Amino acid sequence: MTRFSVMTLFPEMIDAGLNVSILARAIDKGLIEINSVNIRDYTDNKHGRVDDYTYGGGAGMLMQAQPIYDCYRAICEEKEVSRVIYVTPQGKPFDQKMAVELSKEEHLVFLCGHYEGIDERVLETIVTDHVSIGDYVLTGGELPAMVMIDAISRHITGVLHNEDSCDTESFTDGLLEYPQYSRPEEWMGKKVPQILLSGDHAKVSAWRHKESLIRTKDRRPDLYEKYIESHPDEKI
Ligand code: ADE
Repeated sequence: MTRFSVMTLFPEMIDAGLNVSILARAIDKGLIEINSVNIRDYTDNKHGRVDDYTYGGGAGMLMQAQPIYDCYRAICEEKEVSRVIYVTPQGKPFDQKMAVELSKEEHLVFLCGHYEGIDERVLETIVTDHVSIGDYVLTGGELPAMVMIDAISRHITGVLHNEDSCDTESFTDGLLEYPQYSRPEEWMGKKVPQILLSGDHAKVSAWRHKESLIRTKDRRPDLYEKYIESHPDEKI
């Protein structure tokens, strides 16, 4: 059982976002566990404060070290922690490779910031990885943490029904996925490509691979160039 602990000021956001669909089934099956923990429950401040002004001045408030550290200690006491991920636009970009790597850990802790950020001293003390979901700034770390937990969970054995669907999808081989079709054979005058109805598995595979190359070249020239470097004979 993989545990995801999320240190946040908005645990209800994590619970609402992750207890649906495939992840809800994975929780039911005991494959993953989502443990959202409210940082505010650990503040020593009698008014429940968790933030204060920034030394040196500047706009906005900063989350203080004490509640975060005590929250982290409580999480560690329940189950040994593998890694503590601070979700921040100043982190390493999250990708599929990182999702696969993190899926092998037993207990991942995500620290979600709010306001202008977090006191650097507690980050230095507890954080093992700084990770970003892209070059844009969100209002808090909860959505990035949810994005990462979703992407990581898909690589945990048993979470997806079809073991294959994880290997053939986009990014696994460095290419985007080919187009797919379901019934009916004709819809709004558009026909399913004939080759997919042929029953010839080798031809279908070759067609799909070519479509993957075309799509990758068109939509993600950066990925296409990288792929062609190691497969020069497949250039289109
Ligand atoms: N917090 C705010 N923006 C973020 C981003 N792009 N990635 C991770 N954490 C964030």
